[in-house]
Amino acid sequence: MNEHTEALSAFALDIKRGLDQFPKTLPSRYFYNEIGDELFQKIMDLDEYYLTRAEFEIFVRQKAEILKAFQGDNQKFRLVELGAGDGTKTKVLLSHFVEQQVDFTYSPIDISGNVLAQLEEALKSEIPSLHVEPIVGEYFKALSALNTDNSSKEVVLFLGSNIGNFDQASGVEFLKHIGDNLSSGDMLLIGFDLMKDPRKVLSAYNDKEGVTKAFNLNLLTRINAELGANFKIDQFDHFPTYDPLTGETKSHIVSKIKQEVFIEALGESIEFQAWEAIHTEVSQKYSYKMIESFAEEAGFRIVKNFTDSNDYFVDSLWEKM
Ligand code: AVI
Repeated sequence: MNEHTEALSAFALDIKRGLDQFPKTLPSRYFYNEIGDELFQKIMDLDEYYLTRAEFEIFVRQKAEILKAFQGDNQKFRLVELGAGDGTKTKVLLSHFVEQQVDFTYSPIDISGNVLAQLEEALKSEIPSLHVEPIVGEYFKALSALNTDNSSKEVVLFLGSNIGNFDQASGVEFLKHIGDNLSSGDMLLIGFDLMKDPRKVLSAYNDKEGVTKAFNLNLLTRINAELGANFKIDQFDHFPTYDPLTGETKSHIVSKIKQEVFIEALGESIEFQAWEAIHTEVSQKYSYKMIESFAEEAGFRIVKNFTDSNDYFVDSLWEKM
């Protein structure tokens, strides 16, 4: 580290680390600034992006079975959601549980107090009798604090195939960590996008309107805005790939020409060869076999798999062993 990099933000350091590597990479977690959040909302409404609708259908059609599985022999529970967003899908379950007069508390966890305040406000008006206890903070800290209260079973929701954005090793680590903060008998409902027609997968990440392209390239706009870089966005393109053997969907940003970009905060110029790619995201697609070994490695047993009518997506209910 030199005098220039000493005072850099975590964002700047991650960008530097990624762009100094070969092949170049940029972490997908930086997609989600205000513009990125809006673009992701648009993605979820796209015809091509089947994931959100498939999971919504699972909840609408199977909410009664899901409730039964959560309750076991009529236990009360705390429903903890990691990264709740606007809660559109979860509301289907929450409304049903309230209608059935189930004894439960809903605890969405998010690092952003703002996101949680908005969600709490919406829930108050839409499902007034719901008992909500939001927790602002990091997932594991919040889970570990909850785990000291053993008065009710915990059921953790990790939806939307967010797990697919981890590489394999960090995904297992993440799930093990969730398990470390649960007690035996607690549950995890986790969303996985299944392997399917490769063309169907690929078009979900390469929509006709170009919303996913804008979402990916927004990373460069963000680096321009926050780190004083001079990326010329139209000299870069979006290029996703899908490998049907491994289920890996990868997004890339490709430099259309040989060029140099200066990043003021790093005091550094980055060179791009013509058609050089930056890997920005992995969105893993799974087979049932992969999900089974995932659960086993992370210390859970699969209780039940809930799938949509097309078999595109699965919400897999796991129990901590
Ligand atoms: C948030 N995550 C599950 C999305 C996905 O499908 O991997 C992010 C996304 N990237 C491009 N389109 C959507």
